[in-house]
Amino acid sequence: MSRPLIAIDGPAGAGKSTVSKALAERLGLDRLDTGAMYRAVAWRVLDQGIDPGDQPAVAAVAAAACLEAGPEVLIDGHDVTAAIRTAPVSRAVSAVAANPEVRRQLVTRQRQWAATRDGGVVEGRDIGTVVFPDATLKIFLTASMEERSRRRGADESPAGLARRDRIDSTRSMSPLARAADARVLDTTDRSIDDVVEEVLSWL
Ligand code: C5P
Repeated sequence: MSRPLIAIDGPAGAGKSTVSKALAERLGLDRLDTGAMYRAVAWRVLDQGIDPGDQPAVAAVAAAACLEAGPEVLIDGHDVTAAIRTAPVSRAVSAVAANPEVRRQLVTRQRQWAATRDGGVVEGRDIGTVVFPDATLKIFLTASMEERSRRRGADESPAGLARRDRIDSTRSMSPLARAADARVLDTTDRSIDDVVEEVLSWL
C-alpha cells in the first residue's frame, strides 16, 4: 500500500471516532468504524427477537447480513445509523462481539474493505492487534473514566460503559488490548486539533 493504514483502538469514549474522522479528512483517506459493524449485527439480532447470548443464532445473523458501514450504516436494507447508538444496542453489543464466529465474519469484511482501498483509518478494539497487525501506524487512545462517561453523556450510563469495557477487555477472542507497537495517547485534557496534530507528526 502506498498510502497509510492507521489503526485506532481504545475503550469507549476515548475519542476514537472523533480522532479517526478528523484524521481521515486531513489525509484524504476513507474511515471504517468497526464498532458500527458490531452494533449493526447487534441491532439485527434484537430486531429478529434473538437472544444475544445464543451463539449459533447470532453467528447465523452475522453470516447472512448484507452490511454497509459507511457514514450511513445499513444492514439487510435497514438504515440503522441512529438506531445502533441507542441503549438496547449498547447493552447487547459486547455479547455479540464476544462471539468468535461473529468476529471471524466481521474481521474478514474489514480486511476486504481495506483490500479494495489504498489505505484508510480504521477504528475499533482489535485493529492493531488482530485485524491489521502490519498497519502503518497504531494508536491506542485512552482517557479517564470520568471524562469517558462525560463524553457519552445521556447515551450510556457510567455503569453501562464500565460493563462494556470489562466484557470487551476480558473476552477470550481478540480482547481490547494495546498492540506492543502502538503509541498510547491520553486524550483526557487534550483538544481534538492537538491530538490530530500529534498523530500526524508520527506519520
Ligand atoms: O466503538 P463502539 O463503542 O461503538 O463499539 C461497540 C462495541 O463493539 C464495543 O463495545 C465492542 O464490544 C465491539 N467492538 C469490538 N471490536 C471492534 C470494535 C467494536 O469488539 N473492533
